[in-house]
Amino acid sequence: MQARDLLDVDDLTPEELRQLLADAHRMKASGYRGQELAGTTWALIFEKPSLRTRATLDIAVYELGGHPLYLDQKGVGLGQREPVRDVAKNLERWVGGIAARVYRHRTLEELAEHADVPVVNALSDRAHPLQALADAMTLEEAFGDLKGLRVAWVGDGNNVLASLAKVLAPLGAELVAAIPEGYEPEEELPLEVVRDPRQAVQGADAVYTDVWTSMGQEEEAERRRRDFAGFTVDLALFEEAKPTAAFLHCLPAHYGEEVTEEVVYHPRSRVFDQAENRLHAAKAALRFLVGAR
Ligand code: CP
Ligand code: NVA
Repeated sequence: MQARDLLDVDDLTPEELRQLLADAHRMKASGYRGQELAGTTWALIFEKPSLRTRATLDIAVYELGGHPLYLDQKGVGLGQREPVRDVAKNLERWVGGIAARVYRHRTLEELAEHADVPVVNALSDRAHPLQALADAMTLEEAFGDLKGLRVAWVGDGNNVLASLAKVLAPLGAELVAAIPEGYEPEEELPLEVVRDPRQAVQGADAVYTDVWTSMGQEEEAERRRRDFAGFTVDLALFEEAKPTAAFLHCLPAHYGEEVTEEVVYHPRSRVFDQAENRLHAAKAALRFLVGAR
């Protein structure tokens, strides 16, 4: 039998998504520790740097009774020292599952095709599902049912936006994204695109932004800084949203670019709740992938 994988949020049916989120809330409330991964090792392969994803996957595996094995790109050389398929064919002989952070989404698909153990996307150029699950959890904590909630995105049409759109749509929230011309998402997503950040933010229940230059795009940083002028979420822009609006950011933040310090540290900022919820979302995702319900 092919293992279940989680390469993006839409690998889950809406019903599975709701169950996974409910599981995450329950585990957070109870401080859950389990043995679902007992006796198994999970490989955590990272081609790019990470704080939140690496830490929370490691802790999640540990809190479910398993052993996390961190493998960095310098050591493994995924697709360089040896082909992705060969890495997959080796790892599946030793581990219960693989989480991978990669430059090219195709690398994850190849891992999933060739390894007969669950593969989790720990961020690719296209998607960041573990982040989106934690974001949905954070919004549910703040607002309850997300039906009819208006979420504004300000910035790049990137991996975080793509997964956010795929988590919000089945939960009934509306997403309006202010994106400069030329930086729209490559794939069709359930959201409305506008050009003016104020138009997106006005009347929003939550305002979300992410870096203008993602990992792997460093050479474009200067051009992006020019093209994203006027897209900084500062206090004046944040105050255009509802007076009860929450602020979200997946972190790390590039202060003075997409956001200012006073917004990240605003009383209605939820960014550290998002970070906290990464752990519970990761635990729920791992439990789901090993068939624990
Ligand atoms: N938000 C997030 O994925 O952070 P890291 O890059 O530190 O893992
Ligand atoms: N869009 C960012 C998210 C980092 C968590 C990146 O891909 O670098």
